[in-house]
Amino acid sequence: MTATIIDGKAVSQKIKEQVKVRVEKLKSQGVTPGLAVVLVGDNSASLTYVKNKQRTCEALGMRSDLHEFPESLSEAELLSKIDELNNDPGIHGILVQLPLPKHIDEFKVINAISPTKDVDGFHPISVGNMMIGKEAFLPCTPHGIMKLLEHYGIDPAGKHAVVIGRSNIVGKPVGQLLLQKDATVTYCHSKTKDLPSFTRQADILVAAIGRAKFIDHTHIKPGAVIIDVGMNRDESGKLCGDVDYADILETASFATPVPGGVGPMTIAMLMENTLQSAENGLS
Ligand code: GUN
Repeated sequence: MTATIIDGKAVSQKIKEQVKVRVEKLKSQGVTPGLAVVLVGDNSASLTYVKNKQRTCEALGMRSDLHEFPESLSEAELLSKIDELNNDPGIHGILVQLPLPKHIDEFKVINAISPTKDVDGFHPISVGNMMIGKEAFLPCTPHGIMKLLEHYGIDPAGKHAVVIGRSNIVGKPVGQLLLQKDATVTYCHSKTKDLPSFTRQADILVAAIGRAKFIDHTHIKPGAVIIDVGMNRDESGKLCGDVDYADILETASFATPVPGGVGPMTIAMLMENTLQSAENGLS
């Protein structure tokens, strides 16, 4: 078996084209969707992500404001900025890039974002609504993963989905979304004993570990669908995922590459959430 490559770049392109058309329609009604991105400190990876988000916004005809602050910004100053953005009618989405400096309480900051502008889907109200299957902004990476599965006709119903990683941004929510699509879900994490005994049972394996090429063919069942959320550097400094991609291709049925798999979907879903927020304001 040779795995079908899940082309996140192509699928995200299609989604962005649809977003662009809706943006044009909204603009003809006098509304330009606006995203405010807040970046604190000088984490170079965060800056790259943020610039990418801004570039995409602009390419789709949306407004994108970057609010950059030094590492020394106080929590009170950040909360005051969020309050200002919550009350700005030209801003439909607020994204505070994580991680934040240690002296700032992330939970407090996420809580301060109006749930109506929470395009990251990180606010406890968004998370709660997602958990009970009610309308909410879904977190972008998990939502992007679900869109990829849908696009390739992979129905999670009745399948065993194994998620490695339990972060609030990826692991926990992707498991919930798979559960809502009737998968049987197992969460594995750093304290899981005998990880391969779980991963080998997976019909769908989601790897969000943060360790370069950690998963190889010995971890997976023949015919498994492999979703790689990792973003690491290998020994030669090349971008790679949590999965040893070349090693699993003869065993898996579908696999996402890194780069070009899940990553581009995250940004596309952020654009869609921001547009949706602006559309919500009209109704
Ligand atoms: N840091 C890493 N991923 C994300 C994300 O999806 N949103 C935000 N706000 N910060 C992140």
